[in-house]
Amino acid sequence: MPPPSATRARTTVFAPRLAALIGDHLGRDVFRLEPDTVGVAGHEIADRILAARRATETERPTFKPLHGRSISRSEASAVTRTIGNDVREALARPLPGNVNLTGPWPLTGHNFLRDLILGQDPRRLRVLMSRTLELTPKLTWSVITVGAALPGRPRPHPRLTGLANRAAQARGYQERRYAMGMYRRAAAPVCFTVSTLVANALWLGAPFDDGMSNRNIILESLRLLPPSWNILRNASPEYPAIDARIGERDDVLLLPLLSHRDPALWDDPDAFRPERWDRLDPDTTPGYLPFGHVSERCWGRHMVMPLAELLLDLVRGSDLVVDPGQRIGRVPLLGLLGVEEVRLTRPR
Ligand code: HEM
Repeated sequence: MPPPSATRARTTVFAPRLAALIGDHLGRDVFRLEPDTVGVAGHEIADRILAARRATETERPTFKPLHGRSISRSEASAVTRTIGNDVREALARPLPGNVNLTGPWPLTGHNFLRDLILGQDPRRLRVLMSRTLELTPKLTWSVITVGAALPGRPRPHPRLTGLANRAAQARGYQERRYAMGMYRRAAAPVCFTVSTLVANALWLGAPFDDGMSNRNIILESLRLLPPSWNILRNASPEYPAIDARIGERDDVLLLPLLSHRDPALWDDPDAFRPERWDRLDPDTTPGYLPFGHVSERCWGRHMVMPLAELLLDLVRGSDLVVDPGQRIGRVPLLGLLGVEEVRLTRPR
């Protein structure tokens, strides 16, 4: 366990609507959130809802239609494999020697991963990974549109990532624009989300006990601050049959944020205790859904976990600490749940 004094001095402050969600509904299984939306946090009902049917293309988190164009499952699968290979190749190379991870996280970790994995790619593609674009999808699309229209487009080259080569092979303005959008779609969860996950872990528990595995630390961070804190399913005829409190026209918002803290499922649910994962299997623990449901679990999780563990390991192997002056970690109401900023510094 970390020295309690370091983590005890930190307070995680959820945005008011997230705090109200936890305060009002923790421990309840099914509850109304809006006139047309029912929240579900009970693990048995969540299980039945997620098993009832596959996510539709607009419900999917990663490969929803790109500017109105559907992404087929075979294309999604090919793109996921491509970025998976890019990640594996990046991890197989020696790590850069002079890594400086001080500064605000998740930004710092994001920049590190972007350079590690996509560092060889042309600027026109790498610029799509700017974190400021995350906040405004419209701006992202403008950057993509401009990039696709510029003369001198990137040419395929063995030095580029597989993902960049896919984009470089696109012919014609429309196809280039689509391919650049896809580049961002696939690379963003690798850089933004993994870095957010590690920033959350540092905030919740650093400094960690030397003997504690990175895997357990990441699994426990995914429990308390799951980046995918909600999973949406639009109204569907299967759902009222599962629970009569769900109406025919109700959308369903499944809430790992709540099931991950349910006192009926977890000992000491609010405490950061990575050692609980010595005895638990993340694939079968009831109510634990950081990567979705067993019927169609996140296709990217096998690259996310080693990458997150590597990044965490780099921080643990350095002499960096969470700034002792930082007492508050704010968690804004965004699609991607995480502490807005965690400052890593060198101890004085
Ligand atoms: C920390 C990082 C990540 C988290 C927390 C995460 C979480 C999730 C969750 C909760 C689901 C289930 C969604 C649902 O049932 O509606 C999911 C599905 C999926 N994830 Fe991830 N994911 C991460 C990274 C990635 C990456 C890096 C990729 C690939 C580039 C990826 C690709 C997918 C795909 C293809 C699906 C299936 C649904 C779809 O087409 O969007 N994920 N993920």
